[in-house]
Amino acid sequence: MKRKLLGVLLSAAMAASLLAGCGSGGDAAATTTDGAADAATEAPAQTEDEAEPAEDAAVETPADTASTGGKIGISMPTQSLERWNRDGAYLDEQFKAAGFETILTFSDNDSGRQVNDIQNMLADEVDLLIVAAIDGEALNTAMNEAADAGVPVISYDRLILNDAVSYYVSFDNYTVGKLQGEFIEKELDLANAGDKVYNLEITAGDPADNNAGYFYNGAVDVLKPYIDAGTLNIVSGQMDFDTVATAQWNTDTALERAQNVLSSYYADGTQLDVWLCSNDSTALGVAQAITSDYAGSNSVLITGQDGDEANLKNIVDGVQTMTVYKNVSNESIVTLGLAKAMLSGETIDESLIPSFGIECAFDTESYETSAGNKCPSFLLVPNVITKDNLQDLVDTGLYTMGDDGYLSANQ
Ligand code: GAL
Repeated sequence: MKRKLLGVLLSAAMAASLLAGCGSGGDAAATTTDGAADAATEAPAQTEDEAEPAEDAAVETPADTASTGGKIGISMPTQSLERWNRDGAYLDEQFKAAGFETILTFSDNDSGRQVNDIQNMLADEVDLLIVAAIDGEALNTAMNEAADAGVPVISYDRLILNDAVSYYVSFDNYTVGKLQGEFIEKELDLANAGDKVYNLEITAGDPADNNAGYFYNGAVDVLKPYIDAGTLNIVSGQMDFDTVATAQWNTDTALERAQNVLSSYYADGTQLDVWLCSNDSTALGVAQAITSDYAGSNSVLITGQDGDEANLKNIVDGVQTMTVYKNVSNESIVTLGLAKAMLSGETIDESLIPSFGIECAFDTESYETSAGNKCPSFLLVPNVITKDNLQDLVDTGLYTMGDDGYLSANQ
């Protein structure tokens, strides 16, 4: 209903600008192949662990001033990773507070189910979609249908590789990895290491997640010269992305591989100095493996990303060394500002940034939804958190520090 109304209100030019962005929209999207179509029809019913929140969340929630807004579909990948719960909650809250109706779903890391969830949103006549993809290449059916229905898509945090996407909101993903690499470089003073050799292992993210390669490359580009020079030695020899990747960023998968590496290459007492982990859920698995299976007694430098509660606790306890924090409340504020500008037909460029009130860059070069189709992106700034600046998280107002020194997220 509302979309039809909105459609009447928007001029043709405005509607065209909504769908502008990454490439030519509908046409290009319609020709892409669809790997998810079969899966979509077979998508299982909600699994137990996610059924309740997803069902609750999927109920349409009219806001007080819904008539001034429109209907927004918010499709998040999973509740099994801490951050997405926060993203979903912040987006839902902020859009509602701005007068929109929302439909919020989590798809249990199942791409077929995410296609279904988005199709349901389209059937519910949403005006705009915000999608954090489980698999950037598996949403073509849903994206093509969105393009056909004239519903613009904001690719949230993870890029969807389909030209129906209008805009991308994320953090500077390459910089996330670069910060991890630079942290290792600085902590170990690699530039002045002389003949000293540090032993390193690497755990990367989910190959289906378009971000994972950026994180890996950002870190490895910093560390590669030291690996080539022999200052950093990967004892397992396992370095290429596919070998060190972790499907679905799963903690247990990361734990198992770390246990295998430790028992195969470090059981003889070889010292492990650093484990580059792309994010916190994998760092958690690696830290567990080191606690249970590492023969040495030195503390191993472990990196992470996200600021998950368990990892912040590990940072306080000296089990994990750092995390790259991404303020996802700010990410949702930028997304709201962008969505409002799109729906009111404003020009989308860097001139919007002051109205967000959040530090970010408008980047029209770095991301492509298909070869040659640049996707205009708003990229926020990630920060390094260690045990020395945990107070910065408390200062955001998003975390509280308990008497025991541990942080808990307020959301
Ligand atoms: C990435 C995201 C990270 C991390 C990871 C695991 O796409 O950018 O912040 O959460 O997924 O969910």
